[in-house]
Amino acid sequence: MLKKLVIVVLALLLVGCGRNENELVMVTEAGFAPYEFYENGEIVGVDIEIGKEIAKELGKELVVKDIAFDFIINEVKSGKADFGAAGMSITDERKEEVDFSIEYVVSNQVVVVRKDSDIKTLDDIKDKTISVQLGTTADMYVNENYKDAKVIAQKKYLAAAEDVKAGKSDCIVMDQLPAQELVKENDELKILDGILFTDKYGMIVKKGNQELLDTINKVLQRLIDENKIEEYVIKYSE
Ligand code: ARG
Repeated sequence: MLKKLVIVVLALLLVGCGRNENELVMVTEAGFAPYEFYENGEIVGVDIEIGKEIAKELGKELVVKDIAFDFIINEVKSGKADFGAAGMSITDERKEEVDFSIEYVVSNQVVVVRKDSDIKTLDDIKDKTISVQLGTTADMYVNENYKDAKVIAQKKYLAAAEDVKAGKSDCIVMDQLPAQELVKENDELKILDGILFTDKYGMIVKKGNQELLDTINKVLQRLIDENKIEEYVIKYSE
């Protein structure tokens, strides 16, 4: 009896390790404007606004953790975070590891090049040096479809942009709106005409966390119906 109790208490301590009941922990990678980025030292953006609405619905306070994009799924799987929101595309591989919400954004994948680049069409990139963010759908796509390309997978898009500006890489494959934001900040860069493929974003929870998933879906559906997500996109694209 006592032994059992000790085990239960230890298990609870382990699970609850450093977690506050009143907090809802969201993980993201905050180098992805307009969805999540730093403004005056604070993480803001579309996903943060949605996260706040989810926390409000639960009567909790939203805590946003900024980590490497390729660690987000593990952080959610291990329960260190309650959910992940990072402009994350819904894929079959990811669905094996975590549960996805309903889709809340449709995103095109585009190619960013230097303005003076000799790359003129999407087809020109197939044997070039291509930068991506590590662990993204662009990373997977490029590795699968461009066997003759050299792929540089960076943790941050900023690093990828620096590589292209410096001529170490020929282009970046990435999501359209973040590409537009990146190009706004970097006068030497532009987006090629055309799209490589299309993605749909979902938020993620630990497999089986249906209760939280239901709340997330309810909030997402309401925000979609009220056109709020579009509003957030406009607000954070300025
Ligand atoms: N949509 C792409 C994917 O899921 C890229 C997402 C990158 N997000 C980020 N916050 N850095 O793979």
